[in-house]
Amino acid sequence: MSPCNLLFIVTGSIAAFRACEVISQLVQRGHRVRVVATPSASRFVGDATLEGLSGHPVSRELFAAGEAMDHIRLTRWADAVVVCPATASVINRMAAGLGDDLVGALFLAHDRVKPWIMAPAMNPAMWSHPATERGVTQLREWGVRFVSVASGRTACGEIGAGRLAEPAVIVASIEGAVAKPARRLRVLITSGGTAERIDGVRVLTNLSTGYTGAHLASHFQRCGHDVLLMRAQSAVAAPPLVREECFVTYVELDSALDRLLGEEAFDVVIHAAAVGDFRVGIMGEPGEASAAVGKRSSAHPFTLGLVPRPKLLDSLRARGLAPGGRIVAFKLTVGASEAEAAAAVGRLFSESEPDLVVHNDLQHRGTMPDSFPATVHPRAGGVPVRCATRDDLARELETHLQTETSTLTSHASLS
Ligand SMILES: Cc1cc2nc3c(=O)[nH]c(=O)nc-3n(C[C@H](O)[C@H](O)[C@H](O)COP(=O)(O)O)c2cc1C
Repeated sequence: MSPCNLLFIVTGSIAAFRACEVISQLVQRGHRVRVVATPSASRFVGDATLEGLSGHPVSRELFAAGEAMDHIRLTRWADAVVVCPATASVINRMAAGLGDDLVGALFLAHDRVKPWIMAPAMNPAMWSHPATERGVTQLREWGVRFVSVASGRTACGEIGAGRLAEPAVIVASIEGAVAKPARRLRVLITSGGTAERIDGVRVLTNLSTGYTGAHLASHFQRCGHDVLLMRAQSAVAAPPLVREECFVTYVELDSALDRLLGEEAFDVVIHAAAVGDFRVGIMGEPGEASAAVGKRSSAHPFTLGLVPRPKLLDSLRARGLAPGGRIVAFKLTVGASEAEAAAAVGRLFSESEPDLVVHNDLQHRGTMPDSFPATVHPRAGGVPVRCATRDDLARELETHLQTETSTLTSHASLS
């Protein structure tokens, strides 16, 4: 990858000596590294080492003579900022938005479009403390990325999670974060469930949370793509820096898709929303159930009918995509055998003509929060790929969709 400017912040952890290895690897790989160290960090690793490895003097003080505007200048210079190792203290200071030292001021002045990466290192009790957990959650919400901590024996002799990740893992995470995609895709992701109004207050809906759609939006945004999340009002919100619009009903989603696909040339539509297949009507009466339900007397039973709606997936391409644009569909089965799942995926390909189908089965859902056992099926007989987590799925889709040649493109050139 091409060399980039990295602002490398070292804080006061016993793992600070391992940050030297990370800096050394980054410099050897051609990156330009400038180091900031907290006063506590200097108790663990000396300026001479950090300056020798990076080739530049170390910045320490917010009010250093001649360097008073470093908190602005350094973040503007950097393509990414790395805090390695990140102490519990620095995580919690940043999460509180404190700007009374150089690291805090750098964080607040940071251009949030650029990656800010934390590689934590601490005692397992500090890592699992609610204050630290809350700090990490807050920073994640603001778009900060975390390199996963390792588990095992820590410097203090305790065993658990909190060790600094291996230097090679940290270097790979940094390079992954600053990598520019070969092709910047305009991606529309639908997410969450539609609600069908029965009357003014009652709805028929489903249990979709929109978690997968939001996760995909976050991943594609971090990979440098231009993402719009079209989500149900009740679904997980878009991550920071991702554009979002909301819908409640099928009709709202339908008309938003019409407008957006007409106005913007999306390269990819990931249709992860759980769209209701039916609208509600009262049996024997024309039109929608609407307010009629509320006005009826409870003494006289009546029957709600389900009137099929057209599948939104079927009309996405006709509404307008960029040339070679691709559609990703989702197929959920419940307790299907492999043969039944394959048949369901095959039917979706032939009826709706998506380019990729993500199949998952309700009964195979894992217990871990991020587990998402699924299989990605490409059109035209490509090899299906199994994923275990939402991260796997996001990476697989992004890699696949990055490739210029799509099944759709080859179809188009044949016709
Ligand atoms: C020997 C020693 C090792 C420490 N190691 C860690 C550590 O690995 N992680 C951590 O969060 N704090 C650690 N601390 C505590 C921090 O150094 C302390 O919270 C400090 O104020 C952090 O300052 P900073 O975040 O500004 O660098 C350690 C302290 C000592 C004395």
